[in-house]
Amino acid sequence: MVKIAFNSALAQKGLGKEALVSEKDPETASVYGSESSTGRCLLTLLGLAFILSGLIVGGACVYRYFTPKRLYHGTMHFTELAPDAAGVETREPYYLPRVEEDVEIRDNMAVINVPAPRFGEGDPAYILHDFQRKLTAYLDLTLRNCYVIALNTTVVMAPRDLLDLFMQLMLDSQKTYLVHEDLVVTERIDDLAPLGYYIYNLCDGKPTYRMQRRSDIVGIQKRSVEDCFTIRHFENTYVMETKICQA
Ligand SMILES: *[C@@H]1O[C@H](CO)[C@@H](O)[C@H](O)[C@H]1NC(C)=O
Repeated sequence: MVKIAFNSALAQKGLGKEALVSEKDPETASVYGSESSTGRCLLTLLGLAFILSGLIVGGACVYRYFTPKRLYHGTMHFTELAPDAAGVETREPYYLPRVEEDVEIRDNMAVINVPAPRFGEGDPAYILHDFQRKLTAYLDLTLRNCYVIALNTTVVMAPRDLLDLFMQLMLDSQKTYLVHEDLVVTERIDDLAPLGYYIYNLCDGKPTYRMQRRSDIVGIQKRSVEDCFTIRHFENTYVMETKICQA
């Protein structure tokens, strides 16, 4: 193929028949040879360009899929009293309990890694907010169960705001207060597929339950013996203590 290309190129230069029989003529053969080496050089460059572009595209894919995700780390110290409660300043203890988190934030979801607290109560957990599906999943790492509830946009900041919050927390921890929420397990979920890709990945293979806010449940009396646990976390400017009870 290369030979043909160069023969026609030479033909245009007026070498005509000589070029076509070049292989048998030592003089033109040398001309042909040098032209051929230029050709080989061009071809090699072309090949290298292909390989290089392949490496760049491949590298971008590898970077996108195999490098560790960007994690943001944040710490919040909190008082157990709401800020409007009287006498907070004077009764504030010397040591404030704290919650630490690592969070991965994307356009439409955030995963929060809550480690076991060094002091105080609370289970270690992964909390996933799927902003597209408008769902939140708690994977309790002690019980290895998953709990799903509608995403509460009042409590959970939008991804961009969450990112801003963690940018500030990367510089310095903040002092805040504790808010409680009370959730109750209502039913077991057998088919995780409708919960979306992210929650499916998080909860696949774990017993998964649907929850409701206790205040939203009408006509269900609080049982005398309930199996409850708490997760302390934040996805806003305050610390949330989520209490989950299995009725
Ligand atoms: C969201 O959370 C707030 C504060 O805990 C609560 O008052 C509100 O009812 C919740 N909204 C929904 C839809 O659950």
